[in-house]
Amino acid sequence: MRAIAVEQGESSPRVISVDEPTPDEGEVLVRTLRVGIDGTDHEVVHGSHGGYPDGADYQILGHEAVGVVEEAAGTDLETGQLVVPTVRRPPGGEPNEYFERGEPDMAPAGAYVERGIAGAHGYMAEYFTSRPEFLVPVPDALAATGFLIEPISNAEKALDLAAASRSTFEWSPAAATVLGNGPLGLLALALLDQRDFERTYCLGRRDRPDPTIDIIERLGATYVDSRETPVADLAGVHEPMDLVFEATGYAKHAFETVDALAPNGVGALLGIPESWEFDVDGGRLHREFVLENKALVGSVNSHVPHFEAALETLAAYPDWFTDAIVTHVFSPEDVDDAFERGDDRIKTVVEFDAR
Ligand code: NAP
Ligand code: BGC
Ligand code: ZN
Repeated sequence: MRAIAVEQGESSPRVISVDEPTPDEGEVLVRTLRVGIDGTDHEVVHGSHGGYPDGADYQILGHEAVGVVEEAAGTDLETGQLVVPTVRRPPGGEPNEYFERGEPDMAPAGAYVERGIAGAHGYMAEYFTSRPEFLVPVPDALAATGFLIEPISNAEKALDLAAASRSTFEWSPAAATVLGNGPLGLLALALLDQRDFERTYCLGRRDRPDPTIDIIERLGATYVDSRETPVADLAGVHEPMDLVFEATGYAKHAFETVDALAPNGVGALLGIPESWEFDVDGGRLHREFVLENKALVGSVNSHVPHFEAALETLAAYPDWFTDAIVTHVFSPEDVDDAFERGDDRIKTVVEFDAR
């Protein structure tokens, strides 16, 4: 079967031919429909994040997938059911405490592999196998957009963590900023739209006309250009933020977020930057955290409950939004084009099959 993989020593993916996977006992065989590409996939391809499966000289990419159960193998799933796979698996296939209690997203390094990202093959292939507990059933209506459930679920988890850190007092957030107008940032902005924030902002570094700015404004949010208004100035130029959702991977934003927050505000950090040394006034930031009851939470990955919440969120997005987000659909043969980047692209998808 065809798979999209990056080979050791290479810095661009290509189509390879591999054997169709044979499900182990208790595993399900899934026929892949669509697999989305995000910033993390580019980081994996460029070697700045993740890594190859043990002993493999190639890595099959892809962690945002939707597919159809081909062989249910005696599980509760039925053949023909549409499913979305989660990303983390126990190393060596042996569940550890994090997987046993249904919290693999909270596992430390070494206690998980991530399909398509770190230590395990992903879903960019005509077929993949999985244990059924890592497959979330979704309605047929989401065959074309279900691959968005995984990135939305990452945003759901981050917002849960942020809200939990504000749960011991009366917190009534009204103003929120998303840092980053990539796919994760825009999916999060549309999620915040469903959460009744009175005022939302989204930060980018693009000139108009730009499709992401159009989406930001159609969602009723204010576009902020970081070249004119750095994150640290957001509070003064616009207003102090009750919530900041960082999705740029631009390391300075983690620290500047503290200045953007209102008293009692919380910042959720999701970006995955490379190493970058710079100066910060640690004393001032420390004082600000303490005297203004501010919080920063880091958040990575997500699990079944977040996928289930994301399914509801996706179903409630307006059609114009999902249409505008999914800008490019490629067949596997067009892999070179699929992994290009460009300002006209938001979410690029590889389509292996249609429903
Ligand atoms: P992406 O496509 O790389 O998007 C990042 C966006 O941030 C781009 O639109 C970029 O603008 C913008 N940006 C970067 N630096 C900026 C700056 N200084 N000022 C204003 N805008 C800036 O990636 P993504 O898929 O949306 O994901 C965002 C980040 O989150 C990535 O680092 C990814 O690895 C990470 N991620 C984490 C999780 C998690 O679970 N924690 C989940 C998914 C993704 P331009 O396009 O104009 O350059
Ligand atoms: C994926 C997450 C993963 C994270 C770190 C994100 O792009 O969506 O599932 O945990 O990268 O590798
Ligand atoms: Zn991702």
